Amino acid sequence: MEIRRHVGRGAAPGKVILFGEHSVVYGQPAIAAALGHGLGATVIETGNEPRLQIPRWTGGGLSVAPNSQADAGGMDRAFAIAMRAVDLSADQRFSVTIDGELPLGVGLGSSAAFAVSLLRGLADFQRRQLSESDLLAHAQEIETLFHGNPSGLDHTVAATGRCLYFVAGERPTFETIDLKTTIPLVVAWTPRRGTTAEAVRSLRTRWTQSPSKYDRLFTAMGDISLAGRKALEAGDLAQLGHLFQENHKCLQACGVSDPSNDQMVDIALAEGALGAKLTGAGQGGAVIALCPKEPRRVVEAIAKAGFSALFTHVN
Ligand code: PMV
Repeated sequence: MEIRRHVGRGAAPGKVILFGEHSVVYGQPAIAAALGHGLGATVIETGNEPRLQIPRWTGGGLSVAPNSQADAGGMDRAFAIAMRAVDLSADQRFSVTIDGELPLGVGLGSSAAFAVSLLRGLADFQRRQLSESDLLAHAQEIETLFHGNPSGLDHTVAATGRCLYFVAGERPTFETIDLKTTIPLVVAWTPRRGTTAEAVRSLRTRWTQSPSKYDRLFTAMGDISLAGRKALEAGDLAQLGHLFQENHKCLQACGVSDPSNDQMVDIALAEGALGAKLTGAGQGGAVIALCPKEPRRVVEAIAKAGFSALFTHVN
């Protein structure tokens, strides 16, 4: 006789910053969108105590039990938070496996996609749905665990799946941008040197040394975000490509793009991308290239140079 096991399933997209990383810290608007690639959580009833597994985790995979103690690991605590959010107790018998093709730890919102897919998967396992506001609140709790004081952008994109015009601050504002057309993107990446917090801190040091130089750059990047919003709403890919270029030049001038980022951008342009830029904190990590034609050529050329790349979209 076939034994039918109870299962739950949840998924969430990664995020990409299209415009305005770093300048957003100085009050300028940024635009982020949900990626076509993300993470998923599959929850299966087992005979054993709760377990969370990420086979793709570096160093042979990750497997943890829930633990809410302050000195427990981040993943153990995140698992405990997500279980509590949907009233699952430690004596229930199940395991969660996180899958998906989203690159981990390169600024594409993998921790937020993890949090949201885990919450959705566990809720589905409990045969219930979390409201958007509950989902956002619990995902924020998990993101805070990982990142200390997150802007909220990553988990808001992961939970809503929207393209958002974002202004940070004490009370961050998010406006939905209605995209006129799908945006075809090649995402390329390489390991990061250091964390987002370190990249933000070192730019702040440079800013305090030459405030007028950097304020000019931040204002220019804010103007690019505004123009980017218009181009997205109009579906103007040529203008979008041009604005990627302009934004990348500003990020270079801020000192956050390193030679590997610039090399990936240059390869994408040589292979026909309409524009390409760093995305996220920089110092390695990811770049995006706007590729309405022959994206595979760009992916192959970037891979040949020793980096990772995939073709995806924003819509
Ligand atoms: O690389 P990420 O996804 O951590 O993005 C960082 C974006 C910054 O503007 C550099 C920092 C921030 O808090 O907005």
